[in-house]
Amino acid sequence: MIKTDLSFIGDEAKKLMDAHRAEADAAVALLESGSGRGSDFLGWQALPFDYDRDELSRIKSAAERIRKQAEVFVVIGIGGSYLGARAVIEAIKGTYHNELSDGPKIYFAGNSVSADALGELLAICREKNFCINVISKSGTTTEPGVAFRAFSRLLTEKYGDGADERVYVTTDKSRGALKALTDRKGWESFVVPDDVGGRFSVLTAVGLLPIAVAGCDVDALLKGAADSASAQKGTGTQAEEYALARYAMLRAGKSVEIMVSYEPRLTMFAEWFKQLYGESEGKEGKGLFPAACAFSTDLHSMGQYIQDGQRIMFETVLSVENSATDYDLGEDDDGIAFLNGQKVSFVNRMAQQGTILAHCDGGVPNVVLRVERLDEYNVGAMIYFFEKACGISAYMLGVNPFDQPGVESYKKNMFALLGKPGFEELREDLNKRLRN
Ligand code: PA5
Repeated sequence: MIKTDLSFIGDEAKKLMDAHRAEADAAVALLESGSGRGSDFLGWQALPFDYDRDELSRIKSAAERIRKQAEVFVVIGIGGSYLGARAVIEAIKGTYHNELSDGPKIYFAGNSVSADALGELLAICREKNFCINVISKSGTTTEPGVAFRAFSRLLTEKYGDGADERVYVTTDKSRGALKALTDRKGWESFVVPDDVGGRFSVLTAVGLLPIAVAGCDVDALLKGAADSASAQKGTGTQAEEYALARYAMLRAGKSVEIMVSYEPRLTMFAEWFKQLYGESEGKEGKGLFPAACAFSTDLHSMGQYIQDGQRIMFETVLSVENSATDYDLGEDDDGIAFLNGQKVSFVNRMAQQGTILAHCDGGVPNVVLRVERLDEYNVGAMIYFFEKACGISAYMLGVNPFDQPGVESYKKNMFALLGKPGFEELREDLNKRLRN
């Protein structure tokens, strides 16, 4: 479970929290009663316990099959159809999971339109036994569409009629081009529920299939999320405290939240967090800008700015209280003899504690979120914690957490420039501007 430690936010922020507590309670009520904006997309709240049992058992069987079938498993998706699975796999299995695991190597595609990124992964797959999971709720997103065309073509070249057994699809139950194609081809498919938006979908097949293929225990993940849902229900919860602390920071004039962790295996979790909060809150001219740093790595790059640059940010430290493994430094007479007899986890802890105090002294308050360890149970709990806090936080701002109207602007321009029918006028206009 997660604990919100507010020891390092300062007195001004605490006073602001007290002043706005009633608004946080109202936001909780709005979220839990389903009467706030975007309430058609509250399905994520029930996902940890009210899920489709048959689908979960199909997910587990498919994962087992894929683990036998493939040396490489390519997960194609972008945004909410990508970040959650990768975040969870790396948090639980570590950054080097592909090298350390006995299952298929898991790679992610379709999260950009880089020809180089695509070409590199295709080169890997040409030499290996592989299968793919294409994930798109809408079934119409360009980036995964491009990657899917390339990887499904390669599958056909390599396996002929056997290619169809190597395609796993996660999409809407009835709508979209991908669903129609899936039905025609008879590919095994899984559903993204109507009432769960992309960035809230990691506990559906969107996340669960790749996570299960990585060898993670999805039951423990769901159990952690379910216990977290109970713990975060109502007012006075740890999630509400976090949401309220963020709001207090905004009111105190901070505009950037840096999600910080001292565990490299949480780097992608911070990316997931950035999407969740950035896309849910950044609208109508409102919202904290969610950023991320990996410490102590970034203390040797961004550390200078955080300590001494513009005072626009606060940090949220995702503190993992117990590492999965440790290393005893023993005795030596090298340049770090002062560490003789210590463990690396102790050094990391001191780096964290020293940095929190230094940054606080430099005018950067720290919210500390304490998590016991990075296993399935606790990562499941973290997912629900952040989702719940996000809903509360967005309602406190008065925005709809579950839409993303701003994303459409780039898509329209891209479609126009690519010559998609229906965008002719915009194309002309954009081309004029680009020629100037
Ligand atoms: O949170 C969201 O809704 C988005 O980030 C989507 O997940 C992302 O745009 C991908 O969409 P889709 O799954 O429809 O391809």
